Amino acid sequence: MTRRSIGIIVNGVTGRMGYRQHLVRSLLAIRESGGVTMADGTTIWPEPVLVGRNETKLRELAERHGLTDWTTDLTSALAREDVEIYFDAQVTQQREKAIRRAIEAGKHIYTEKPLAEDTAAALDLARAADAAGLRTGVVQDKLFLPGLRKLKRLIDGGFFGRILSVRGEFGYWVFEGDWQPAQRPSWNYRAEDGGGITSDMFPHWHYVLEELFGRVNAVSCVTATHVPERVDEDGRTYAATADDAAYAVFELDGGIIAQINSSWGVRVYRDELVEFQVDGVEGSAVAGLRTCRVQHRAVTPKPVWNPDLPATEDFRAQWAEVPDNEEFDNGFKVQWEAYLRHVVAGEPFRWDFLAGARGVQLAELGLRSAREGRRVEVPELRR
Ligand SMILES: NC(=O)c1ccc[n+]([C@@H]2O[C@H](COP(=O)([O-])OP(=O)(O)OC[C@H]3O[C@@H](n4cnc5c(N)ncnc54)[C@H](O)[C@@H]3O)[C@@H](O)[C@H]2O)c1
Repeated sequence: MTRRSIGIIVNGVTGRMGYRQHLVRSLLAIRESGGVTMADGTTIWPEPVLVGRNETKLRELAERHGLTDWTTDLTSALAREDVEIYFDAQVTQQREKAIRRAIEAGKHIYTEKPLAEDTAAALDLARAADAAGLRTGVVQDKLFLPGLRKLKRLIDGGFFGRILSVRGEFGYWVFEGDWQPAQRPSWNYRAEDGGGITSDMFPHWHYVLEELFGRVNAVSCVTATHVPERVDEDGRTYAATADDAAYAVFELDGGIIAQINSSWGVRVYRDELVEFQVDGVEGSAVAGLRTCRVQHRAVTPKPVWNPDLPATEDFRAQWAEVPDNEEFDNGFKVQWEAYLRHVVAGEPFRWDFLAGARGVQLAELGLRSAREGRRVEVPELRR
């Protein structure tokens, strides 16, 4: 069997996403499963080149996984001929300039979302990469979650009939960092460092809504900074200048109304950290990260409003579980495999920089809607 090695810079590998999801759960997991097999039987074998700012952390991380290829010098890594892909999981603010360097170096590029901090920059990156003939990709991991795959299956199978609305509930309590350490990095809560839940989550909601339901035509959004002060990784109190909650309504093709709450200031009384309820004329579904439950119109109960009586029905028990019917691998890994096939074998891959720019655009327009207190239409972005 022929093995096709491919050098991949993993920049920001010491971060939460860079390490856990991209290095360990994707690239190393791909190696553990024998590489990515292409149609002609050749296997693509990722060779990660770990890039970061802190030598000690990089060395320790590399040794933990028996890796030897690491550097704090991005320029020299980009100059290497055996490196064909640049991957970016740095803090968002560092992304644009690093990607520009990768474009200049002629590398194919895969990146965490959001692609850039604003739409103009994201679109410019998409155009520059296109002009250089590079193959690009942006992480859209939620599409590969078992719960959303099952939801997609229901949509494709016509389960809902006409879809009316989508209700998304996302978030959990992120500790302030005083008496218990915060479970997310402090830059997320500082606008000046590229933080904010709208720019973090709307790129996700954009691809989820468009891939499953239809184009997003308009957004109305209210944002808040519910927790104004937090404590960082070094125990210093800082002003939380970024939004930590966004309450949005999205108007989609076909008259579908999607409402999504995103919040780091909410306690979970749900089955999963994100859930989408979809109501259609023929049936409804509630999809989370892993599970998906349905209720068909034929078995829909007929509740009658009477606050004088205790609830007589166990509403949750009236839903049926959608079976897996297939094996679901880690979503980040599945998308990496598709991207590697795209780069090496030219297989189609639609989650490119332009798709990423559309996600950035929705975040930007959501923030504008909140700032100006009005509904904002979403214009088409073109290459
Ligand atoms: N796809 C998803 O579900 C998902 C989830 C969380 C975060 N993300 C994205 O991944 C990226 C990284 O987020 P994270 O949560 O892993 O963050 P993190 O703070 O854990 O990691 C950030 C990485 O960037 C590096 N870095 C480079 N320059 C830096 C600088 N000047 N200041 C601080 N750090 C710098 C850090 O060393 C670290 O390796 C963000 O763009 C974020 O939007 C995506």
